[in-house]
Amino acid sequence: MHLGIDLGTSELKALLLDESGAVEGLVRQPLTVQQPQADASEQDPQAWWLAVQAALDHLHATHGHAMARVRSIGLSGQMHGAVLLDRQHQVLRPAMLWNDGRSAPQCARLMAEQPNWPALASNLAMPGFTAPKLMWVHDHEPRLFEQVALVLLPKDHVRLMLTGEAVTEPSDASGTLWFDIEARRWSPTLLKASGMQGTQMPRLVEGNEPSGLLHAHLAQRWGMPARVVVAGGAGDNAASAVGMGCVQAGEGFVSLGTSGVIFVTRDGHRPNPAGGLHAFCHALPQRWHQMSVMLSAASAIGWATRSLGFANEETFMHEASQTSASERERAPRFLPFLSGERTPYNEPRLSGMWHGMRHDHTRAALAWAVVEGVSWGLAAGWRSFGDQAPARRLSAVGGGARSAWWLQVLADTLSLPLVQHEHSDVGGALGAARLGWLAVGGDVDDVCVRPAMKAHFEPSASGHAMRAARQAGLDALVARELGTLQRGS
Ligand code: XUL
Repeated sequence: MHLGIDLGTSELKALLLDESGAVEGLVRQPLTVQQPQADASEQDPQAWWLAVQAALDHLHATHGHAMARVRSIGLSGQMHGAVLLDRQHQVLRPAMLWNDGRSAPQCARLMAEQPNWPALASNLAMPGFTAPKLMWVHDHEPRLFEQVALVLLPKDHVRLMLTGEAVTEPSDASGTLWFDIEARRWSPTLLKASGMQGTQMPRLVEGNEPSGLLHAHLAQRWGMPARVVVAGGAGDNAASAVGMGCVQAGEGFVSLGTSGVIFVTRDGHRPNPAGGLHAFCHALPQRWHQMSVMLSAASAIGWATRSLGFANEETFMHEASQTSASERERAPRFLPFLSGERTPYNEPRLSGMWHGMRHDHTRAALAWAVVEGVSWGLAAGWRSFGDQAPARRLSAVGGGARSAWWLQVLADTLSLPLVQHEHSDVGGALGAARLGWLAVGGDVDDVCVRPAMKAHFEPSASGHAMRAARQAGLDALVARELGTLQRGS
């Protein structure tokens, strides 16, 4: 039995995986995000740890038999967040998350001071990444910055609580901008560029290697064996890839989570920073990946559900799906940039909008526009992979992948077949459990298989002309917004 813990932004999941590959138990704990100012996004690491304890207390109570057989724990988590610790490993401030936009000036400074930055770091300096966040803390909270003895990524703080070990692994370390992605080790040059030192970084293991042992008192509390190995694990996107069996070059997925990601596995390091594409390590040794990241995907659906007064996201999706072709053609256009955007624009100042509203627009038409706008945003990310199509089809993962209707809209928008697998909405937790399994002797070919297919979505030809015209309208709208921002700066 193997336990996967996935620390998301809106919820934490814990999943029990048995050695036939079946999911034996699953528990979710909600999490909230704090916004002390408009462009900020923070969480208290203590809230993560409370959620882990509540989830595992629950599994102990409901799946005691399975918990008694757990051999390993794998960790997956939201990437890039900065957990700042002092010498005693006490948390110094709330963690600044992957969608925190405050460090845009620090990013501009990094790129200006190091003209060869994209070549050096393989990625653009973007505010969500960890290094510019530390520069922001240096500039705005200098006394606190002086006390930073260790910087951990979110899931690695959970590991510290579980094992006492300060460890990370290459897939998550890639998102710090302190990492040599090709060599899979900390980069003294990049650390120095943002005023950091190697001694402030955790030890490295690969995602499928042991990183430590679960504390004895916790094993006892949760009815687990005395010796439970905690594996390196992965950032949530690389973990989802492992969960969906996307571990060979050219295999990939589209994730409809709080963020929207298109991820493609590569057999080598392939930097392509110009369009804001991320080039990171995969969760397994000798494998890398590229991904486009949009900052508000399912979170834009959640925001619009609340703002338009829908009872829940299912009702939102249902009403949007019932709009007629002529309503869709006349609907306002929605820009999904509620937290700014990374791929392809790298512009934290972009904001969301419905454009072209009229008296006769219903809330269903506004809802349709949001689904269309988020799908269009993902397609813009897909285009930044370039002409050479890196994947022939994509698996769909994340909470949004539960909606078959949205997956059809997305297949049409991307002009690419999509596949929905079993457990696609818990890909990160499943991948984490699989990495745990590998760390205690599981074999990649046996463990990292594709879950059973549930449904398949082929791009449909009907409505193509209307879709193309609507998307050209959205392209023109974002070009206008970017022009206005550039003229203003
Ligand atoms: C990836 C990214 C997001 C978070 C969300 O670069 O920032 O996908 O990992 O959890």
